[in-house]
Formats: sequence, structure tokens, C-alpha cells
Amino acid sequence: MNAPQIETLLHENRRFAPSPEFAAQAVATPELYERAAEDRLGFWAEQARALHWHTKFEQVLDWTNAPFARWFADGRINVAYNCLDRHVLAGHGDRVALHWEGEPGDSRSITYAELTAEVKRAANLLTALGIRQGDRVAIYLPMIPEAVIAMLAVARIGAVHSVVFGGFSSDSLRSRIEDAQAKLVITADGGYRKGSVFPLKPAVDTALARGGESVKRVLVVKRGGNEIDWTEGRDLWWHEELAQVDADHEAKGFEAENPLFILYTSGTTGKPKGILHTSGGYLTQASFTHRAVFDLHPETDVFWCTADIGWVTGHSYVVYGPLANGATQVMYEGTPDTPHPGRWWEIIEKYKVSILYTAPTAIRSFMKIGREHPQRFDLSSLRVLGSVGEPINPEAWIWYRDIIGGGKTPVVDTWWQTETGAIMISALPGITEAKPGSAQTPIPGIAIDVLDDNGKHVGNGNGGLLVATEPWPAMLRGIWGDPERFIETYWEKFDFEGTPQRRMYFAGDGARLDEDGDIWLLGRVDDVMNVSGHRLSTAEIESALVSHPIVAEAAVVGASDETTGQAVVAFVILRAKQSEAQTNDEAAALLRAHVAEQIGAIARPKKVYIVTELPKTRSGKIMRRLLQDVAEGREVGDTTTLADTSVMSVITATVH
Ligand code: WTA
Repeated sequence: MNAPQIETLLHENRRFAPSPEFAAQAVATPELYERAAEDRLGFWAEQARALHWHTKFEQVLDWTNAPFARWFADGRINVAYNCLDRHVLAGHGDRVALHWEGEPGDSRSITYAELTAEVKRAANLLTALGIRQGDRVAIYLPMIPEAVIAMLAVARIGAVHSVVFGGFSSDSLRSRIEDAQAKLVITADGGYRKGSVFPLKPAVDTALARGGESVKRVLVVKRGGNEIDWTEGRDLWWHEELAQVDADHEAKGFEAENPLFILYTSGTTGKPKGILHTSGGYLTQASFTHRAVFDLHPETDVFWCTADIGWVTGHSYVVYGPLANGATQVMYEGTPDTPHPGRWWEIIEKYKVSILYTAPTAIRSFMKIGREHPQRFDLSSLRVLGSVGEPINPEAWIWYRDIIGGGKTPVVDTWWQTETGAIMISALPGITEAKPGSAQTPIPGIAIDVLDDNGKHVGNGNGGLLVATEPWPAMLRGIWGDPERFIETYWEKFDFEGTPQRRMYFAGDGARLDEDGDIWLLGRVDDVMNVSGHRLSTAEIESALVSHPIVAEAAVVGASDETTGQAVVAFVILRAKQSEAQTNDEAAALLRAHVAEQIGAIARPKKVYIVTELPKTRSGKIMRRLLQDVAEGREVGDTTTLADTSVMSVITATVH
């Protein structure tokens, strides 16, 4: 980092008030906060009524069976109808829903009328394949329009999708298929990434060869054109099947609490959790936040959320929020630097993107390669910038606003989680005076606090643990198949005995309240890492490492990293080497590849240190905190609780 950057980091206390012109046209108004403060549930009911209900709801929140919430439970709704037919019927059928850009440069613009027609056919196809309300469908696709079509088709018939990020391995795919007992997998032959085709279908084949017996059919979208194996009787081409079904499909209403999707995310144990979301409440908050936080004017804006649909950000802000709001979006298949480092900026210029939503890790890597790349393109269409996934450091915030936003756009730092379903904490453009580095305030209708370990409010100027003190519409409804784990993970830390309704949701994040009461997120307080805005569990990577025959023991930590926020660093004790001749470096390379194969490339450790011992307490617990000190090149902290205090000097000597 150069000197001026450090300056901004340490001394950034500038404030950015909304311009009067922006405020005058803003979607969000101060009255939203007032209305929500005076009648929180009434406020959410009003937001919900902005959607189309097949049967109107009377009940708003049912919290009697806390922490299992029910929102708008006596209403009936069709999520896909809200994202499609409704806009066509309102006369917006010709509006572009998706400007899709393939990595090799092919592109497709799809209107709401066209998207509706495609989803209707796909819904008929799913029904023809025996998929019924409540059945689970796994989706393992690249960022192509069919991913959106598949998700909406599943939603349209009241079934449940489980999207698995295309970068996950066959093993990760198999365990997710098995946990959800999916009946159908929708995949592609392959997709484009970094200038070539990466195959997807082979990973499905491997997953199903090793398990996943619940799967009866595999639908394959043709995208990569790569050669694939074919299992007769099981595999079907998406385009061939679609050509044979009816074009018409009537969307019927399902209970508001009908499950919409399961999305797996890393927790503190080795097994990913299937986070369950339902329909009415989820769509209410996804669409409200998408309008208010991004100041969406659907007639004129072009919105681009760069997240993959394999993550929750892609669910809520590529699919459900924007489409429920009738927005025009950009969707891009590939990587930011293919075929040249200005690809994103070229896309923004081409489609006149006005709202960009991305992650700090992307911003930091653009900072690293230099402002000359964005400066080659006309970015003047941009008027709102958003950030998500990890804390954004003030210098990245300022760079984002200055270099990408031309020094004029509001920047909103949005905090939320797979579990929360939609944005919970964010500035609202046009209202909030922005503070670089702080997510600032809960959005209207959301109750957040920062508590100490005893459940006491920490007060301004102090740090503690972030909690949601009241249920919210898009909250997770549970962990698929594991109600106990749901309660233990989120609701036991701040449990007020005898009154389940007063339990609070523990997010797993640390936070600080500044002198104004604004919220600053400080990162996870559990064994979950955040690498490039993606959640990874130390336990999951450790179990991947010990599954290799040469490994005796492994400990994984997240070490802070300038670009990716955190990086995976592993400390491994070997049982044996593959061969006598193998060096430590070769063993480390082998293990890095092994983790990528077991979980996916995103989990591949940046560094694997081969050590002879790990720091343990007398009760045998690994002290990851000390390993983190080593990985971050710091002086090692307090070692007095170690069973053998000399261990750390041996490890430090090995590493340096
Ligand atoms: C982190 C992504 C700071 C946080 C939507 C959270 C953030 C985890 C922010 C959820 C932010 C997300 N500032 N930290 N604006 N947004 N996080 O489930 O640690 O992939 O618990 O959801 O990302 O990650 P997830």
C-alpha cells in the first residue's frame, strides 16, 4: 500500500451527504423510517401489498412458535408470477428483463414477455418430468439466462430449488443433492470462464455415480458445446424437451410459507447448512430493499449485480428482487478480466448501467491493476454503487466512488447474510449521509442491536456482537432437515429463559457502534472465514485436508489479505509423504489441489505449511488464534494455555 492510501485509511472521516437533486428524486423517503418505527408490522404489510397476492393475507407475523416465524401465512402468492406475468399484464412486456452478455462476446436481450414465455414452457416441462409442489430441484449452471429461467420455473410450480455454485466440486454437489433429496438436476454441458469452456456435466455424472440416488432425471442446457457423456433414460437436452411442451401455463397461488429455496452455506462445522427460505416474506423484503437501497426507477435504470446465482446475492439481487420490481438488468457469464481487464467497464458503457452492486474484493483487485482500465470507458451512466459480502475498507469505498462513480454517486454498503435473505443494514441513497467503511443503519422495519456477551446493549463507542432483535420477513425459516441445529446456531446465544419469543438472532458477526450509533462490521466471530466475499468454514477445509492419506492432522485459519479480505492458510502435519523423494513444497501443492477437488477452487488454500506439531490446549483444542498470528506475520500472542509452549517457536521457525 502506498502512503496516500494509508492516509485515507487512517484519516477518512469525510462525510458524503446526498445531493439535493438526488434526494428530490429518491425512492426512499424519511417517512419510511418514521412509518416503520411507529408500526413495524404495519409497515411490512404495506410493503407486502406491493406484490400480487392470489389470496390476500390478513395475518402479518405469527411468532408463537418462535424461532420458527410465519409471515403473511394466510395469504397465497406465486413468486414467479410476481416476477413475470404481472409486469407483462401491466403493459411492460416489451421492457428488457435481461441484457445477457456471454464471456466470448455473444449476447442476448430478453424482454419480460419473452422471459415469461420461456418460464411457462419450463414450468410445463418440470411438471411433465413429475416435479410437484415441495419437490427439490438442484440447479448447477453457469451464469446464463437458463439459470434464471430454471429458478423461476421451479418457483412457479411451488417446488424448491437448491442452486449449487458452478465452481463447487462434484463432491460438494453430491452432498447437497443428497441432503435435499433432489429429484432432478438442471445443468449445462459447460460454460465459459477465463477464455475457455469449463465443463459442468461431468461433475454431475461423477456426483451421481457416487450417490445422489434420489435423482431421476438430468436436464442439460447446451452452452459450452464441449463433449459430454450421456446416460440414456436419465439425461435429457433442455432445448429438445422444451420444444415438446405446451407454451401456456397458468400460475397458481401457493401458501406464503411455501418453501422457495434451499441454499447451502458454510457454518462452523464440517457440514454445510441448507438455509431454507419461503415465499411471501422473502419476496417482500427482497423487492423492497432492492427498490429502496438502490433507488430503483424501473423505467429508466439498468441494474447490474455481479454476483453468481450460486450465492444468496445472486438469488435476491439478480433473480427475485430485481425481477419482482420489473427492473432491466445486466447478467454477465464470465470473469472480469476476460478477454481484457476492462471487461466490466466495457459492459457498463455498452448497456449504460446505472446501478452497480459488487463486492469489496472485486473493487480492491481493480484498484490494484490501476484506474487506467475503468478510465478507458464511459461510466457516466452510473448513479448508485453498492457493496456487499465483507467489510469495505474506507480507501476502497473512496476509490469506488471517485474512480467508478465519477466522484458523485452514493455508495451503499449493505450488510446481510444467506440467512437473512435480504439486506438488513445499509445507508439509503438520497437520505443517509454516507460514512465510508460503515454499513450505518438498519433499513426501515429491521431491528438490530450490538450486545455484549451477557446480552447487554454495548452503547455508542463500543464493540460487541451483532443481533437482530425482532423477526423480519425474509428471515430463514430453518436449516433443511435439522431444526435443532437451527436453534443452536442462531437462537441460543441470546436466549431469555422461558420466553422463546424474546430470543434474538445471533448473526455470528462482530460489530461496533460509533459515536453516532452507526454500525461498523468487524468480521466473523466464529470459525467462518470470508474469502473474496465467500463464506468458507475452517472445519470443512480441515476435513477435506485430513481426507487425504498423507495427512495426519490439519488446522486452517483465515489470514487477512489485502485483496481477498481473508485468505485460507493451512497448517498440516503429514502422516507420510507420497514418496520419499517428495518435498514439503510438493506435498503442499498436492494438498492445495486436493482441497480444490474436494470442495471447489474457492476453498483452495493460498498457503499450506507443513509442520510437525500444532498448538493445543491441555484439553486438546487447537488454538487457531496463535496460528493466525503466524499466518499474518505478527508476534505470537499469549501461549500460556498451551500444553507445550515451545510448539509455537517451532512452527514460527518452519514458516519463516
Ligand atoms: C459478511 C452475503 C461486512 C458477514 C450477502 C456476514 C459483510 C457474511 C457485509 C454473510 C458487509 C456481508 N460488511 N461484512 N456489508 N456483507 N458480510 O451468507 O460476515 O455469503 O456474516 O451473505 O458476510 O455471507 P453470506
